[in-house]
Amino acid sequence: MYKRIATALSFASLVLGQQIGTYTAEKHPSLPIQVCTARGSCTTERTSVANWRWTHATNGYTNCYSGSEWNATACPDGKTCAANCAIDGADYAKTYGITTPSSGALRLNFVTKNDNGQNVGSRVYLLASDTKYRLFNLLNKEFTFDVDVSHLPCGLNGAVYFSEMDEDGGVSRFSGNKAGAKYGTGYCDSQCPQDIKFINGEANVESWEGGLGKYGTCCAEMDIWEANSDATAYTPHPCSVTKQTRCEGVDCGSGSDRYAGVCDKDGCDFNSFRMGNQEFYGPGKTVDTSKPLTVVTQFITADGTNTGALKSIRRFYVQNGKVIPNSKTVIESVDPTNEISEGFCEQQKTAFGDNNYFKTLGGMAQMGEQLKKMVLVLSVWDDHAVYMNWLDSNYPTDADPSKPGVARGRCDPEAGVPETVEAEHPDAYVIYSNIKIGALNSTFPAA
Ligand SMILES: *[C@@H]1O[C@H](CO)[C@@H](O)[C@H](O)[C@H]1NC(C)=O
Ligand SMILES: *[C@@H]1O[C@H](CO)[C@@H](O)[C@H](O)[C@H]1NC(C)=O
Repeated sequence: MYKRIATALSFASLVLGQQIGTYTAEKHPSLPIQVCTARGSCTTERTSVANWRWTHATNGYTNCYSGSEWNATACPDGKTCAANCAIDGADYAKTYGITTPSSGALRLNFVTKNDNGQNVGSRVYLLASDTKYRLFNLLNKEFTFDVDVSHLPCGLNGAVYFSEMDEDGGVSRFSGNKAGAKYGTGYCDSQCPQDIKFINGEANVESWEGGLGKYGTCCAEMDIWEANSDATAYTPHPCSVTKQTRCEGVDCGSGSDRYAGVCDKDGCDFNSFRMGNQEFYGPGKTVDTSKPLTVVTQFITADGTNTGALKSIRRFYVQNGKVIPNSKTVIESVDPTNEISEGFCEQQKTAFGDNNYFKTLGGMAQMGEQLKKMVLVLSVWDDHAVYMNWLDSNYPTDADPSKPGVARGRCDPEAGVPETVEAEHPDAYVIYSNIKIGALNSTFPAA
């Protein structure tokens, strides 16, 4: 919920551009999904993934960005830079540690040593074709996948979420962007990240400092899964803007503007540990993270149609053939519930003393509108801003952990310091598999 404030994915001297390079052909790893209409009635869709990657000048093999600086010759301003810098095909396995160990499975390695040094973390987007992302309408549907977090320790986050990105990655709206979805462009999320190098077909060179630019890239986000082996949360984050939108100033909601921006950066989270059940999720717990598990998320509408108002977001787990409903809240002055609804958000925010910016930006109703055309994102990352403490430790770090809402997991607050986790757990990885979308109750066995 406090994520991706600064560089979520650190990457040795590589950056992406907006022209198409000619050094490496782009070959997307295949990641088929299942589309289900009823239990036992699913068809395979031949989807694949594209990740974000690096760039070089169009007329030679120089980087347009290195260290944390733009090349002033190639990039005197955003437009010129986008015209001068290209994005090339990626070697998914060798450069980024992204592989498909079996059909329908995607493995993301945390640290990958490569010819350029090392890659830390990755983020891929699901494609319907070579040039278009796969759009999802989640209303009155359920989204299901298997995950293996057994090699994902404290401080890391293997994330599965939806962002309201353009289907074509921005090529039709922004003339400066020639690369598009094929090359993983057009990213946005509810943190309005300002570390994104190209936004709206222009480089983010203006007032670039410490890896952050003047502009951010905002859009609604539905976090299905943010997790490691010790903690997990699912969180809707609506925005007042209705598609990928470049922000500047107050609109980006950075620092003291957090509750003045166009997106709800906190969201309305359901983390079982934070919601009062500390025995539900973890190694050897009710949902045992030492083994693979299935995660089901249902988007219930008020009238039971695909266009109705979003009423609640429901969660089930399946492990060893057993359906495990989400844990119930155990918090004073919160009515026991195991799903996210407007009432739950209201009570949770009040009980924890949090600003209900979720409600200010339209809450469940606004989120529901934004769930109609979402792009699927799968990633693994570490957190340079707040060490993932908001997910798996105490946050705010200096608050009393016995105060409701502060304790979110068992992890040591220092475990997620990037230098530490990168040195101690370079072999960490996550595997996502068996991704399914379908009618309610169609993608998992009956309880
Ligand atoms: C900066 O870009 C110019 C023009 O593309 C190139 O000649 C030069 O080598 C680059 N500098 C660095 C440090 O990469
Ligand atoms: C899904 O299954 C649950 C029981 O597990 C049931 O209460 C619910 O009505 C079902 N929903 C639909 C749309 O079939």
